[in-house]
Amino acid sequence: MANAFNLDDLVTNLRTAATGENPRVTVKALLEQAVADPEAMQAAMPAFEENDVILHEDETVSIWHCRFMPGHTVPAHDHQMLATIGVYSGAERNDFYEADPETGGIRKSNEVVLSAGNVLQIGPSAIHAVGCASKTPCMGIHVYLGALTQIDRSLFDTDKGEKLPFSDENYQRMTR
Ligand SMILES: [Fe+2]
Repeated sequence: MANAFNLDDLVTNLRTAATGENPRVTVKALLEQAVADPEAMQAAMPAFEENDVILHEDETVSIWHCRFMPGHTVPAHDHQMLATIGVYSGAERNDFYEADPETGGIRKSNEVVLSAGNVLQIGPSAIHAVGCASKTPCMGIHVYLGALTQIDRSLFDTDKGEKLPFSDENYQRMTR
């Protein structure tokens, strides 16, 4: 059992990586290693009651456990910092948006489905809406290189193409 997955170890290693040299590369490598054997990770993960659980946050890194229930989609948002997503159960749909010069709003630019075992890294200005693409809940670890709850970021009403402040009220209203 040399490679047994342990969540506490992953969090510790991600924190070390975030303050070290080239965290973009090392954080991605750690997540790739963690989800490489999705069944082993599923077996070792605790059961969380909430869909979003903050496992750790400081000035250098925020580590979340994110669960998306089938049919559930969270509104389009940005992060203002590098984000790395590793999925270990189910499949996560990422709808990407970009600025639309014609309307001054945003338009859908790309769609990426991450299956268990996949890792995706997205830049600070990327805008995505995230949902579940599987019949079972989608679960993954999302790592942000900064204090995600401490910064001003945005939500986007993709129907109207509007940029809105990231608030609980706006988030709940646009969650599907
Ligand atoms: Fe996100």
